[in-house]
Formats: sequence, structure tokens, C-alpha cells
Amino acid sequence: MPSAAQVKALIQSHSSGDDERFYAVALQVAAAEARNGHETLARDLRAIVDQAKTRTSESKARFNVVQIAQPMGEAAELLDARLPEFSIKDLVLADSVRERVMRVIHEQRQMSRLQAHGLRPRQRLLFTGPPGCGKTMTASAIASELRLPLFVVRLDALITRYLGESANKLRLIFESVNQSRAVYLFDEFDSIGYSRDGGQDVGEMRRVLNAFLVFIESMHSHSLVIAATNHGSRLDKALYRRFDDLIEFSLPGDDEIRQMIETRLQSVSTPKLGWQKIVKAARGLSFGEIGRACDDGMKQAVMKETANVSTASLLAALNERRLFLPPAET
Ligand SMILES: Nc1ncnc2c1ncn2[C@@H]1O[C@H](COP(=O)(O)OP(=O)(O)OP(=O)(O)O)[C@@H](O)[C@H]1O
Ligand SMILES: [Mg+2]
Repeated sequence: MPSAAQVKALIQSHSSGDDERFYAVALQVAAAEARNGHETLARDLRAIVDQAKTRTSESKARFNVVQIAQPMGEAAELLDARLPEFSIKDLVLADSVRERVMRVIHEQRQMSRLQAHGLRPRQRLLFTGPPGCGKTMTASAIASELRLPLFVVRLDALITRYLGESANKLRLIFESVNQSRAVYLFDEFDSIGYSRDGGQDVGEMRRVLNAFLVFIESMHSHSLVIAATNHGSRLDKALYRRFDDLIEFSLPGDDEIRQMIETRLQSVSTPKLGWQKIVKAARGLSFGEIGRACDDGMKQAVMKETANVSTASLLAALNERRLFLPPAET
């Protein structure tokens, strides 16, 4: 049992909001219990303190982001803060991609253990793949799994808007990366990462790219930096080694098509869908397009006041989506 002095100290530290002292006294109580042979109770107390400390430091880190992002003014203007709205469960991914995403999350969660051995968790990621295949969604899911804010930077917009001073603006963004732990998604990364022999090598982009490489190399925080591009093949290959991991998203295969449609239609009744025809009609469409076709199917069902989404309505919606497909990239 804790002594009267310890109970008093616990109450005093709690009421004055002195977390450090509160945990220190709680650990003293645990040590006393261990000395009295109550090992299990001592272990439980230490575990509770450890968990509480982690929660407190996580919420302080989140609070910091809000506090720092606001007064930083200019950097806040460059960052589009998004609520991490997706969970990893919402994502339909090929097993190999899911494994890589989960590895990032696990390493981040085990950061202190890795650091104790002089190792760094993956924090600089390059996402490549066609539009609508989950790059932004995965960044959002990583942020929500790690309970971090998500900040999006549109590099193409940054360059257009701040021509001549975009490298400087990038420095402001990386100041925020280093001060406030969050997930920073640099979208449209190919707008600065074109291959040198691609003929697109405009001076401003080169400056921004060089600045980006310097900043990413000298990152000294626990933030995650994710660069996303639709045009992985056009990126300068020398860039790849600057990242801790490259995750390649692709159009859904047959299994993912079915999984995507099942997930999207789980709230409505879909008796006996003709899967063969549906999967065939969806081949070549992105997850995003398939999701929209499902929504169209559901809208029709609602408006016709039928309870079911039928194979015919899904096929019609998928075929309509094909009309929106952009011409194949050359
Ligand atoms: N892997 C996926 N699993 C489930 N839904 C997905 C997936 N990929 C995309 N979607 C759906 O498509 C929408 C758009 O996806 P997202 O914004 O992640 O695409 P993106 O790869 O970032 O595309 P872009 O290159 O155009 O930025 C999502 O909001 C979601 O509804
Ligand atoms: Mg995106």
C-alpha cells in the first residue's frame, strides 16, 4: 500500500498538473510494492505509467503541431492541413504493397527500440503510381494509424505561385518538418523530379529539387516525408536512393477489383452479382474510378427505390467510367 505521504504527493501533483512528479511518485509506489514481494502489482503499475507517459507525449506532440503551425504564418500558408480521415482498413491493397505500408507503421511505432540500437525507422518515402490508386489515401491512413496530422504540399502549385523564391518557401516547410512531427505529403513530386535527360530541366525546378534533396538529407525530426508522383518512370533515378522506401501503387488486379467493390457496396444488398463480367468491365480502371462506379450504382438503386445494386447497373456505371479514361501515357 502507498504511504500517506505518497498519497498526498499523488493528489498534489495531479491537482497541479505536474505529470512528471505524479509518474515519479507512482513509480516509487511500484518500487515499494516490489520490495514487499508484490511483483505482479509492481509490474502492472509500471506498465500503466509507461502507457500514460506515451499517451501524454503523443498528445503533447499533436498540440505542438497546432501551436507551431499557426504562428509560423508563411509555412502554414504553404501547408494544406488535412484531417487524417482514412484508416488502413479502408485501403484495398495488393499484399506486397500492404506489407510495405505496414512495415513503415511498425517501424515508426517501434522507434525508441530501433533508436536504442542506433537504427532509424523509415521516414522518407516515395510513392509512385497512376492516379486514383491510393497514394494520398495511404498517406492519410499512415497519419491516422500513427495519430499524426497530415500536411499536404502541392509542389507544382508552390513553384507556379512563388516563382523565383520557391526554394526559400521549401525551406520554411522543412523548418516545420523539423519542428512539428507530422506526415508531410509532397504531391506532384515529378514537377521537380524530372530526369535530367527529359528535356524539362528548367532552372527553377532544378533549384527546388536540389534544395529538397539537401533538406530531406538533413532532416532531424521524427516527421514522415512522403513524395508522391504519377510518373515514377520519369523521375531522375538518382533520387531513389534519397528515400528510405519506394512504394509502387498500381491499378487493381482482379482480386483487388472484387474486394474494392465488395467494400464499397457493403452497406447495400447485392444478391448474386455476376463477378466475372463485373471484374472484366473494371479492368484498367483505378480504385477511384471503381469507387465512383459503385456510388453511381448505389445512387440508381436509391432513386429507383430498389434495395439492390444489380449487375446490370454496375456494368453500365463501370463502362461509363471507361469513357473518362485519359489517353494512355506515351
Ligand atoms: N487502394 C485503395 N483502396 C480503396 N480505395 C481507394 C484506393 N485507392 C483509391 N481509392 C479511392 O479513390 C480515391 C482517390 O484515391 P487517392 O486520392 O488516394 O489517389 P492517388 O493515388 O493519390 O491519386 P492522384 O495521383 O490523382 O493524387 C480515394 O479517396 C478512395 O475513395
Ligand atoms: Mg493523390
